[in-house]
This record gives sequence, structure tokens and C-alpha cells, in this order.
Amino acid sequence: MGHIPQPRGPISEGIISALTSGDTRATLPSAGTPDPFGDDLHLSLYVCYELHYQGFDAVDPEWEWDPALLGLRRDLERVYLAALRDGVAGGADVDPVVEELMIDAPGGVSHFLEDKGELWHLREYVVHRSIYHHKEADPHAWVIPRLTGQAKASMVAVEYDEYGGGRADHMHSTLFRGLMRALDLDDSYLAYLDEAPAPMLGVVNMMSMFGLHRSLRGALVGHFAAAEITTSPGAARMTRALKRLGVAETVFFTEHVEADAVHEQVLRRDVIGDLLRREPELTGDVVFGLQATDLVEGRFGAHLLGAWDAGRTSLLEAPHAG
Ligand SMILES: [Fe+2]
Ligand SMILES: [Fe+2]
Repeated sequence: MGHIPQPRGPISEGIISALTSGDTRATLPSAGTPDPFGDDLHLSLYVCYELHYQGFDAVDPEWEWDPALLGLRRDLERVYLAALRDGVAGGADVDPVVEELMIDAPGGVSHFLEDKGELWHLREYVVHRSIYHHKEADPHAWVIPRLTGQAKASMVAVEYDEYGGGRADHMHSTLFRGLMRALDLDDSYLAYLDEAPAPMLGVVNMMSMFGLHRSLRGALVGHFAAAEITTSPGAARMTRALKRLGVAETVFFTEHVEADAVHEQVLRRDVIGDLLRREPELTGDVVFGLQATDLVEGRFGAHLLGAWDAGRTSLLEAPHAG
């Protein structure tokens, strides 16, 4: 369970004060017209979604299915989803989009960390990513009941690996916690939620939104495939970055070099392939999920590199030591 974060604007302020009021009939704010990539919208969505994961201490779990809160969340989701759809090219063919994602273009965060990143850059990167990796594979698990046949069986096979093949100490979320401790960071659940800016929250909010809406199952599968395709080369670079910086705890990344090369194939052939044989009308949404992942990861990378180029932190506050 996480600590309820500090608000970042009128919507998140209204949600957080209602959730912590002790009154499940407390009045909620209206969505208005927030910046689709701004901090207020993304913290608000993150808090709403977290009620479906582990929740927050001091927040009544009944809020998870509160109709008024779900209505507000839906208004915020519509703003974000429209911006994501506007921000991608779209298409009616999966293969060329996958091929493009497989081109390992230079200039990303893992290239920076491998070539010239300092320990503080690495620590910041790990702080950002903890917002997802503490719940690694959880948003994708929601799609399982929405699939059938080989797509379902293969999705479960990939998720089984993400959850450590039945061993808690091998869960990817557990491996990530080990990396955090090796970097003297606080590995408790969502310890750095207050430090994570909108570009990072937006990455996870997209997964949660795709996972929670059956209507977006094609996008969820496309997103997962994109993540698996791009992780393997990035993880190899991160392993080299850690070694160069003298960090011995490389298992989170070495595990992903091997595993995600396989996962990528399974996602492409058995999950996307089988899903689209059954439901070809989802092709456009699979393409959308692939491209939207590239969009939000691109925004996240640009935020980090922009801050670091200017010699300042990419976090909302400096990370505290564990
Ligand atoms: Fe993983
Ligand atoms: Fe994976």
C-alpha cells in the first residue's frame, strides 16, 4: 500500500481531499478541461487507478467502485485518450509498425546512461521507473479474461515469467526492488510517487487505462508488444551502464535481455497474431497501442534528457535515500 501523494492542481486536490476525508459521500471536483499531459490530470488518474491495485493507506477501499469517482475518472481518461489518438499516425497494418519499433535508434535515455550518465542520473531513472516496476506486469494481467485461445494462453505464459515463474524472489518487481536497494533508494511501494512528474505517470496511466477497459484490449496487447520489443536492447545498455558505474546488482536488466527477446516473439506471433485472426477489427487498436507506447516513452525520454542537458533534476524533488 502506498501513501496518498500531495496534490498538483485543483482536480487532484479535490480527489485527494475527498479520499482522505473519511466520508465516502464527499463531493468530488469536475474534470473541466485539463492539460492532457499535465501533472494535475496525471496525478489524478494515477490516484484513481491505484485504488484498483494496492490502494492507499488511510483511504477507504470502497472508493474503488464509487460511481461519482468512476465518472470523474472516465472524463479524465477521455481527455488523455483523445490526446494519445491525436498524437499517433495510426494505420491498418501491424507489421510495418513493429518493424519500425525494432530499429534501435540512438539518442534515448539508455544510450545516455551507457555513454556518459553519472550515478545521480541512474538513480533518478530508477526512481522514475519504480512507479511502474513496483507493479510490473499488473496492468497487463487485466487483459487475460478478455482474450481467448492461443492469445490468452501465450499472454499468461509471458505474465508467468514477469511474476517470477512461481518464485516471489524472481518476480521482476522484486528484482527491481533489489536494484533500488543497491542504489541506496527506498524500495517501499510507490515511495517516490510525489517525485514522479507527469511524463512518467502518463506511461503507467496509459497501461492502466488500456488494461481496465475491455474496449481497449487491442491497444493493451499492442502496448505490451511494443514494451517487450524495445526492452531487450535497452536492458543490454542498462547492464553496461550499471557496470560502468560500479553497480553490481544487474540482474533486473540481464533478466530482461534474455526474457524480452523471447517475449517479443511470443507477443507478435502468438498473442497479436492469434487475437487478430479472431478479431481482425482490432488491428487499428493494436497499431494504436504500439504507437502510443512510442509516443509516451518518447515524451518521458525527452523530459529526462532535457532536464539533464540543462544540468537539473528530472524529478519533482530530489530523491531521498533509503
Ligand atoms: Fe519484466
Ligand atoms: Fe518481458
